[in-house]
Amino acid sequence: MTVENSQSSYVFQKKVNDIGLLCVGCTDDGMSIKLEDPKTKEVKVVFDAVSGAAVSSLPHCDPEITSQMAKFAQDSVYTFGAYFANYAAEELGKFMCENSNGAFASSLFTGSGSESVENAMKIMRQYHLEKGDTKRYKFISRTQSYHGFTIGSLSIGDGSRKPPFKPILLSDEVTPKVTNVYPYRNQKGTEEEYTKQLLAELEQCFIDNDPTTICGVIFETVGGSTIGTPTPPKGYLDGAKALCEKLWFE
Ligand SMILES: Cc1ncc(COP(=O)(O)O)c(C=O)c1O
Repeated sequence: MTVENSQSSYVFQKKVNDIGLLCVGCTDDGMSIKLEDPKTKEVKVVFDAVSGAAVSSLPHCDPEITSQMAKFAQDSVYTFGAYFANYAAEELGKFMCENSNGAFASSLFTGSGSESVENAMKIMRQYHLEKGDTKRYKFISRTQSYHGFTIGSLSIGDGSRKPPFKPILLSDEVTPKVTNVYPYRNQKGTEEEYTKQLLAELEQCFIDNDPTTICGVIFETVGGSTIGTPTPPKGYLDGAKALCEKLWFE
């Protein structure tokens, strides 16, 4: 690729040959961000509209957070995560595990959702391997879902971003899909009936794909980038968890 001095941006974004709006800070209350048009230098204040698909849960420029980040940048250096931690990571990990209602016993800190999904897939496989169960390699996920842009996360996802990369992704055999959760269009009866229907489909998916080869099930709790934000019907996530436990622990 040739780099010409006249190019307007050196950051690879949605449009390669153009420069996007630049974030230049936030308002004092941390509620809104400031975006500058690099061409006109005009700055617009926007109510948190660019964090992505509902994945940013911290206030912007919170002085407590920025001062802690600055402190740790001075106190710590890069170390290889597989061998070294630091007191801040230990403390945060302990806080998260203790507040997970018994769900977690350890933490792995990653730089993005995509990287988290990749690691989750490998940890699921490793979990079964360490139990001596070497046959499990399939991941069930849902249609019209988004799990990230890396090879593994795109494979378990389903949407318009996927088709161009399909030849280099995990195969359909490795990534079976069940229907998305979309009560607005798909719920025909009561919420309870809808939950039953979705769980029956999940169970059938286990059966159709040989339950002894299912390694993991990955769902967005609340849909994001590809489907708006439909919430799961009552009992659905607990029911899906119970089905997995029946499969793996009984
Ligand atoms: C449910 C879900 N998983 C994973 C990701 C990927 O996260 P990231 O963009 O930080 O890689 C997203 C991003 O929107 C998401 O909504």
